[in-house]
Amino acid sequence: MASVKTKTVWFCKECGNESPKWMGRCPACGEWNTMVEETVATGKKQSPVAVSVPSSGHKPMPLSDIDSSVENRISLNNGEVDRILGGGLVEGSLVLIGGEPGIGKSTLSLQIPLHCPNLKTLYVTGEESCRQVKLRAARIGGDDTNCLIYSETLMENIIAEARSIMPDLMVVDSVQTMYSQNIESSPGSVTQIRETAAMLLRFAKETGVPVILIGHITKEGSIAGPKVLEHIVDVVLQFEGENRGTYRLLRSIKNRFGSTSELAVFEMTGKGLREVSNPSEMLIPMHEEGLSGVAVSAMLDGTRPFLIEVQALVSSAAYGTPQRSATGFDVRRLNMLLAVLEKRAGFKLGVKDVFLNMAGGLKVNDPACDLAIVSAILSSNFDFAIPSDVCFAGEIGLSGEIRPVSQTDRRVMEAARIGFKKIYVSSFSSLEQTPEGIEVIKVGDVPALCRTLFRN
Ligand code: TYD
Ligand code: MG
Repeated sequence: MASVKTKTVWFCKECGNESPKWMGRCPACGEWNTMVEETVATGKKQSPVAVSVPSSGHKPMPLSDIDSSVENRISLNNGEVDRILGGGLVEGSLVLIGGEPGIGKSTLSLQIPLHCPNLKTLYVTGEESCRQVKLRAARIGGDDTNCLIYSETLMENIIAEARSIMPDLMVVDSVQTMYSQNIESSPGSVTQIRETAAMLLRFAKETGVPVILIGHITKEGSIAGPKVLEHIVDVVLQFEGENRGTYRLLRSIKNRFGSTSELAVFEMTGKGLREVSNPSEMLIPMHEEGLSGVAVSAMLDGTRPFLIEVQALVSSAAYGTPQRSATGFDVRRLNMLLAVLEKRAGFKLGVKDVFLNMAGGLKVNDPACDLAIVSAILSSNFDFAIPSDVCFAGEIGLSGEIRPVSQTDRRVMEAARIGFKKIYVSSFSSLEQTPEGIEVIKVGDVPALCRTLFRN
């Protein structure tokens, strides 16, 4: 090793693109200021980085001859996690759990083995001592005789240990602390992260042991974010939401074995993360009747319908330029909705500050929320409360028309189940059947919405 030559290269920490010199903008992904300097060994051939299924000498074969029996899935005894994985953890899969520090990645990944006493788990921690893990496990509770804690950061040792133990599940916390001897650069660098993930992927595919890998996202971006890993792993689960509140949202953003954009909701309690299997109840906070600026949207996240409260505040602009701010919603879309209200329905909001907030720290991109957003804005503007048993599902077009949204039936069903009495939808929605106890009100455009909503 004494005469290993090294050279300096630049990596983009967003996409992993390699370049011999520094550039302000990554030519591959177009991001600015993402190039980081790293030293890599030259001469000695490095092990291949990207691997998929190990080559076992198979010849190309006709599609019809390939065994298509379903993958073996392991239930993790956690309804929410099983659901967003698409029905349990697939054998030999590599799952990345990403999120900001302190959001609950380590808690979740320790809770899974503790709640599955029948799975022999190897829990590798590079961040905390065994004692710290023990203290956390004591808070979470559960059987821990089958859970082996291993405090190590050298990947070669971890893989050797895992091969001799052959666990049913392996957890690695976190990818940024692990390193391989074959790579010159320090832990947390793009090359180390890619190599660590590739070694774990090779191990998972060769042995069939599922691996849960934890990755940090830092706001400053001083270490490589897990973005470079997304191509390598099979599943990416991402924690979102604010870690100030008690609710934690876990979203599947990539899944080779199931649908994406599924959302799981947890509550951080003194005993770890509790599953919230009925998120509608958490997203519609209880408050007194008669508050203006509040409307409930029947939205769909992934395949699951739920109801979320939208809050708007409209006030006279204190400065020359009115402020528009949105939490959990695209501010450009908010501006578009305001323009529609101004131009197509004659509301003078151009001189008003408008603030919008989605309950529970959720990030919403379902266009069906438009109708609730517009209703909340108008409600705040007129200081006229919308009754609390009313909800909305509709998209707003540029000419002020209310357009039908996908799966209106399921949204209406969910609203009826929670106990809403009225739901506003587009007049072009086709409904198969209306459940008992809910009135479906069809409206064609924004002026018609105002007429029916603020009638009295
Ligand atoms: P943690 O899983 O350590 O976050 P990450 O691994 O994503 O950095 O979770 C950290 C927070 O969770 C910490 O502020 C303490 C809190 N917590 C609880 O509230 N209850 C618990 O039972 C546990 C284990 C942690
Ligand atoms: Mg942690």
